[in-house]
Amino acid sequence: MTGNLKFWAVIPAAGVGKRMQADRPKQYLELHGRTVLEHTLMRFLDHPQITGVVVALTDGDPYWQRLALSHPKLMSAPGGEERCHSVLNALQVLQQRATESDWVLVHDAARPCLRREDVDRLIAALTDHPVGGLLGLPVADTMKRTDAEDTVLETVPRDNLWRALTPQMFRLGELAQALESALKKGQLVTDEASAMELAGKAPKMVEGHGDNIKITRPQDLRLAELYLAEQD
Ligand code: C5P
Repeated sequence: MTGNLKFWAVIPAAGVGKRMQADRPKQYLELHGRTVLEHTLMRFLDHPQITGVVVALTDGDPYWQRLALSHPKLMSAPGGEERCHSVLNALQVLQQRATESDWVLVHDAARPCLRREDVDRLIAALTDHPVGGLLGLPVADTMKRTDAEDTVLETVPRDNLWRALTPQMFRLGELAQALESALKKGQLVTDEASAMELAGKAPKMVEGHGDNIKITRPQDLRLAELYLAEQD
């Protein structure tokens, strides 16, 4: 039952993407004639169930200014030192116009190949869930733990082991509170589910698709091109 509940999106896009070794942050690299960030934003701006989208940006970001994007659903927030700070800033912007029990889908700017069907599946699976959850992928490879010198210490059983993807969908008030309290404890959580887990909540995992890659290394851009071409 969705009732009057609204769905919002938060897109952290204030990273520098050092591992990409590019001349600009990876969210501004070009993919099929548009920036990675534009592809990502359109996934949510075009979605009829999403009321508004907050993008977290580095202060004075010249690449963003050059895009000169405007859309009635689009808002911005200042980026922070780490992803979790950027997300929290965006949630605080949302708190001025949304209600605490509204759902928020947080999605990395660097994941431009997210399928509409995965957004729909996440929303359908979690709308009636008490906590919320995230898209993920069951681990396919055999998993090893090593020491700092890359010597294998053990094989980690992969049963019930998942890769955490985004979007991650939680209620606005609970997520903001969970992130604030994680930061107070000095925990720089790398995803929203971690913050909820630290708050004693049990998020639900929803299986997504493997083409929802996070562009991180130079070869990922080529892969994203192939996935987008296939989706077209
Ligand atoms: O660096 P990484 O790929 O983990 O970043 C994930 C997402 O978080 C990216 O979309 C990046 O732009 C964003 N981010 C952010 N603020 C930071 C660091 C990363 O919004 N300080």
